[in-house]
Amino acid sequence: MIDLHCHILPGIDDGSRSWDESVEMARIAAADGITDIVATPHITPGLYDNTTASISALVSELANRLATADIRIRLHVGADVRVEPNVVSGVEAATIPVLGKRVRYLVAELPSQMMPPNIRELVYALQLRQIIPIITHPERHASMQQDPDLLRQLVAAGALAQVTAGSLTGEFGPVARRAANKMLERNLIHLIATDAHGTQKRRPVLTPGLAAAAAIVGEEAARAMVLDAPRAILAGVPVVIPEPVDPSLARGFLSRLFS
Ligand SMILES: [Fe+2]
Repeated sequence: MIDLHCHILPGIDDGSRSWDESVEMARIAAADGITDIVATPHITPGLYDNTTASISALVSELANRLATADIRIRLHVGADVRVEPNVVSGVEAATIPVLGKRVRYLVAELPSQMMPPNIRELVYALQLRQIIPIITHPERHASMQQDPDLLRQLVAAGALAQVTAGSLTGEFGPVARRAANKMLERNLIHLIATDAHGTQKRRPVLTPGLAAAAAIVGEEAARAMVLDAPRAILAGVPVVIPEPVDPSLARGFLSRLFS
């Protein structure tokens, strides 16, 4: 499995706090069946001013340490990028890392409470440059929890969406779990990632979340969210995504119970 979103680099955001913790996170991930981790520290202007260069240096160092510890995880350079108007210029200047080369993907974090008013224009501006935003954990976003149709609009505009594995198992509470399930039922989720921050809470494991997703969308579709889709993203080729399901046709728990 490929984990596309993981705060595994030490000391540069609110994720891992030490090299030891980073190595331990990789060990936990490998034991869970993860082969590849995209290191995605926050890039949040004024708070976490990380750049492609600073992230790459830490990825190289961690790769060396994993080799020494005989932990077989391939690391990739990425970032969890706060969406704001300067994102496009940062990507063009290569100070903000993207995944893939021909088609490029940007791991994009929205402000947690509200939708940025110009978000659809920004998705469009990115797409003009063949950059596809991957909206991280919409199920933990207040506006999209209340109204999943906001996510459908972004997906219709060309964005992808990543659910956090822990949301599917209830780690982020019932509201996030319900929202995640609803988004899965409507085919609005394309990726499952750990968004891990350490070894205690928010750990780098995908398997329990994968099982929870499989119960909703089926085994094959769930596996694509941790294998085929992230593999296509790293390769820089288009991700094959399912057609969103009309909410009026989406099957809820009760209809499944009585069908
Ligand atoms: Fe994150």
